[in-house]
Amino acid sequence: MRFLLFVASLLEVVSVAFAQTAQAVTDNPIGAHYIATTPAGGNKGIYATVSAETARNGVMFTININGAELTGGPFLYHIHDQPVPASGNCTQTLAHLDPTVRGETPVCDKARPETCQVGDLSGKYGDIPFLPGFNAEYTDPYVSLKPGIGAFIGNRSFVLHYANKTRIACANFRDISNVTSSGMISPTGSMGGVNGSMSMTSTPLTSPTGDTTTGGAESSSEASSTPTGAAVHGADANGVAFIGLTGLFAGIFAMIM
Ligand SMILES: *[C@@H]1O[C@H](CO)[C@@H](O)[C@H](O)[C@H]1NC(C)=O
Ligand SMILES: *[C@@H]1O[C@H](CO)[C@@H](O)[C@H](O)[C@H]1NC(C)=O
Ligand SMILES: *[C@@H]1O[C@H](CO)[C@@H](O)[C@H](O)[C@H]1NC(C)=O
Ligand SMILES: *[C@@H]1O[C@H](CO)[C@@H](O)[C@H](O)[C@H]1NC(C)=O
Ligand SMILES: *[C@@H]1O[C@H](CO)[C@@H](O)[C@H](O)[C@H]1NC(C)=O
Repeated sequence: MRFLLFVASLLEVVSVAFAQTAQAVTDNPIGAHYIATTPAGGNKGIYATVSAETARNGVMFTININGAELTGGPFLYHIHDQPVPASGNCTQTLAHLDPTVRGETPVCDKARPETCQVGDLSGKYGDIPFLPGFNAEYTDPYVSLKPGIGAFIGNRSFVLHYANKTRIACANFRDISNVTSSGMISPTGSMGGVNGSMSMTSTPLTSPTGDTTTGGAESSSEASSTPTGAAVHGADANGVAFIGLTGLFAGIFAMIM
């Protein structure tokens, strides 16, 4: 019996290790480029632009958030699992993109980004200390611009949160691959200063089909939708989850004994 418990615990440790480690994506399509833009500032007056394009070592993000002055920071931002529905309700984007089914705890360790939720961009690259005036550029190896795998972000959304996790604004990614690759980033460089990346929000980038998101109809709690989202992701890794549960049950059984 003890031996079986030992094996179960071992499996638990192994499954946790696997479940929490994201794989670098090395085959993003050349020229792939997605962008999420909060429409007309959303109802909180927030103009956020998140650009994601294939780069040498992953996906290069160029992020600019301006508009209204907000209290309630430091602010968090993530890629969420589901797109924003036509109603603009940010809660319905469910939980963070999490193909490794890692969950939100423990908190992401910046020093080991592969162990974080794939969609937890502020966890991996830093919170937003204040708004407006946020500009960031970095390359993430774990998100994918290649459809067909769990880490694909092109059909999902960007969500901005207060420090208390209430959602402020959200926007869907849309495909602009090979459309504006030369004119996209201003020649002065998006990291050139406070003003550098404002050019990214220029009118031609707005989808001609119209963006249905409104940047969040209502403030809504992050926590309220997390379990649902986790269930969604659970389907991606049934095997791992099952082994994890085996260990858990063995542990509970051991305690009862
Ligand atoms: C972009 O264009 C290049 C050259 O035509 C093509 O090889 C590539 O597949 C395109 N990428 C995407 C994501 O459409
Ligand atoms: C979260 O913080 C914001 C900004 O301070 C505040 O307006 C909102 O009421 C807070 N939400 C909750 C659930 O405490
Ligand atoms: C947004 O969606 C959530 C979850 O479905 C729901 O509880 C909430 O009432 C919705 N908010 C609005 C303003 O419709
Ligand atoms: C997004 O695309 C990925 C990969 O193709 C797929 O697994 C996932 O179910 C899609 N999600 C949504 C919300 O359509
Ligand atoms: C940003 O650039 C525009 C256009 O060049 C200029 O009018 C504006 O004053 C600049 N704003 C800041 C904060 O530098």
